[in-house]
Amino acid sequence: MNINAIILAAGKGTRMKSQLPKGLQQLGGRYLLQHILDRLQEVGIRSQMLVYGHQKEVLHQALSPLYPHLQFFEQKNLRGTGDAVLSTLPALHEDDYSLIVLGDMPLLSSATLQEMCACAGKADFVVLSAQLENPFGYGRIIRKADGSLLKIVEEAEATSDEKTVQEVNTGVMLVRNALLHRYLPTLDQAQKKEVYLTDLVEYLAKDGYHLAVVCLKDWQEALGINDRRQLAQAEAVWRKRQTDALMDKGVTLIDPMRVDIHGSVEAQEDCTIEPNVIFKGRVVLGRNVVIETGCVLMDCEIGDDVHIAAYSVIEQSQVQANAHIGPFARLRPKTQLMQGARIGNFVEIKAGTIGKGSKVNHLSYIGDTQMGDGVNVGAGTITCNYDGANKFITQIGDDVFIGSNTALVAPVNLADGATIGAGSVITKDVSPHTLALTRAPLKEKTAWKRPKKKE
Ligand code: UD1
Ligand code: CA
Repeated sequence: MNINAIILAAGKGTRMKSQLPKGLQQLGGRYLLQHILDRLQEVGIRSQMLVYGHQKEVLHQALSPLYPHLQFFEQKNLRGTGDAVLSTLPALHEDDYSLIVLGDMPLLSSATLQEMCACAGKADFVVLSAQLENPFGYGRIIRKADGSLLKIVEEAEATSDEKTVQEVNTGVMLVRNALLHRYLPTLDQAQKKEVYLTDLVEYLAKDGYHLAVVCLKDWQEALGINDRRQLAQAEAVWRKRQTDALMDKGVTLIDPMRVDIHGSVEAQEDCTIEPNVIFKGRVVLGRNVVIETGCVLMDCEIGDDVHIAAYSVIEQSQVQANAHIGPFARLRPKTQLMQGARIGNFVEIKAGTIGKGSKVNHLSYIGDTQMGDGVNVGAGTITCNYDGANKFITQIGDDVFIGSNTALVAPVNLADGATIGAGSVITKDVSPHTLALTRAPLKEKTAWKRPKKKE
């Protein structure tokens, strides 16, 4: 059976109080709409139709690069969910099915969507329901005495008896397109202020079509995001899913409520993650990695037995086994630390390699630098890689020793085994196994007196 998806996202999202379309609010570091679009991708639905109401340009810019096949349909007057689906009607093939989803349900799982899709060919219409302790605000699922589906009533139109029903419409439906073609235009003619998609059910039941209900096992999947409180509530559910998965892989989280995963983390056994660590993008951790409190890791690969001390920030970098980073260290994009390298406090590394066992332990900036193995970089060493217009490379061989407070003015090359005296400004290449220093000789003035305050 061919199935196309219709994602309803035209509503104004007024309760979010935002300049952004609701679908572009973020959950777990991704747009709300990305969650649903990714789930549709996972179940293999290629034909995805997004119904939008306003800010097409903004939506287009955010989503089209990520989902090039996503089709956009404008709903002009926002007259309800039935009217929203109507705007896609000319594009719906009679023989196919539509999987209709709401743009504000980011916690829906692909297993649930799969279960819905499996009904195609067996039923004419399927709705996904959920049992809620507090069903207020949702459309209620009303069944006949034999349990079959009779209709869905919206909160505003429900009788007090109907309001006690706790089984609700999640908003996800699977419908034969032929039926949308036949019935949607008639819903429109009912002349109500709002065209309810849910009214479709009563017509289909009356005309004897085969209707089915799939009930959610985990009601949290039905959480709709209408305001910032619900966004935070959903974020907590999302966080728990990610942290549970990490713990199942053998990672210790000192406090799973205080780890944020805005992207994905793959980790091997026996990692330990302290509170208030944030992961962004794609992060890969080896075995036995320790990440202390307050660290931010974004798009990086960390090898076995690496220790990342408190408040370090690592972005687009690769760190090999046994390295030690921080506290208060910053690795900027395109940094590579080889095995056992040590980066200490208040050190910034950008675009370059720090060789095996090399140390930059205190207060340094090392940028655009290729560094060999066993190098010791003294406190306060700076690579002067920028002349105000262009960037230049610093080359440092193996076993180089750089005294504290040295400025390396790039382009410059320190050959293997070179030693640089503290406080030097190095503007020329240094030969292997030599001592280089640019230090003014010490002078002593014996007759000198300290200035005194005037009386
Ligand atoms: C809707 C359902 C309700 C269900 C609930 C689940 C209807 C009539 N009601 O109610 O049965 O329990 O979702 O969360 O279907 N939208 C448009 N165009 C419009 C109006 C809405 O595209 O003209 C989109 C919104 O952007 C949103 C979705 O449809 O993504 C749902 O709209 P919303 O107004 O939130 O519906 P609810 O009142 O929550
Ligand atoms: Ca809603």
